[in-house]
Amino acid sequence: MKIIIVKDEKQGGQTAYTFFENELAKKSNVAFGLATGSTPLSTYRAIVASDLDFSNSVSVNLDEYVGLATDHPQSYNYYMQKNLFQFKPFKHSYLPNGQAVDEQSEIARYDALLAEHPLDLQLLGIGRNGHIGFNEPGTSFTLKTHKVELMASTIDANARFFKNKDEVPRYAYSMGIGSILKSKKIILEAFGAAKAQAVKDMLEGPVSEQCPASVLQKHPDVTVILDEAAAEKLN
Ligand code: F6R
Repeated sequence: MKIIIVKDEKQGGQTAYTFFENELAKKSNVAFGLATGSTPLSTYRAIVASDLDFSNSVSVNLDEYVGLATDHPQSYNYYMQKNLFQFKPFKHSYLPNGQAVDEQSEIARYDALLAEHPLDLQLLGIGRNGHIGFNEPGTSFTLKTHKVELMASTIDANARFFKNKDEVPRYAYSMGIGSILKSKKIILEAFGAAKAQAVKDMLEGPVSEQCPASVLQKHPDVTVILDEAAAEKLN
């Protein structure tokens, strides 16, 4: 894995941005895998400030909370509209439907569209417990799209976005690790000291389901973009 250490989140976002630029320089119909959360915001800001054109490309997001309507301010659908899609429309943008009535059909729909649009570049953040997407520690590396029960630590970490902890949904749909690994290229960003242990486990620990991100050691084309605080525990 290639590691790039940047001075701050803004520079991290600029660095990740160049990967988007490079993909679009090769062809106009790129399939991008996108993430939500705090981490990719600086990347989306850099993209929004650019003249990149996504009108021939598709995006497939990693995950969505079960139960939230697309216009719920904490839904990942809403987040993507607010931070990226309203400024940079894609030909098609896909997220799991958190309100799907038939869960199995929704999971099958997502797997089918991932098969139809093999990802060229997947953008990832990392949870403090090493999760990627909502693949929590202990998740099989071979899973495709699935419904996840969020761990208490993830609910605690995400409570900051809700009025209180009780409002955080307990379940989410997530792309599986098996699907993430199929992306031709992966970039993972981590900023801040709270991520330092997860970053160390990912890069220096054994490949283990206890740290889902450690599976990235097995992928041939991963770049990890870290600020100094997130890199502080590395040997
Ligand atoms: C979000 C996602 C999660 C986050 C992770 C880090 O779509 O898949 O894995 O990347 O929870 O979240 P932040 O960036 O808020 O620290």
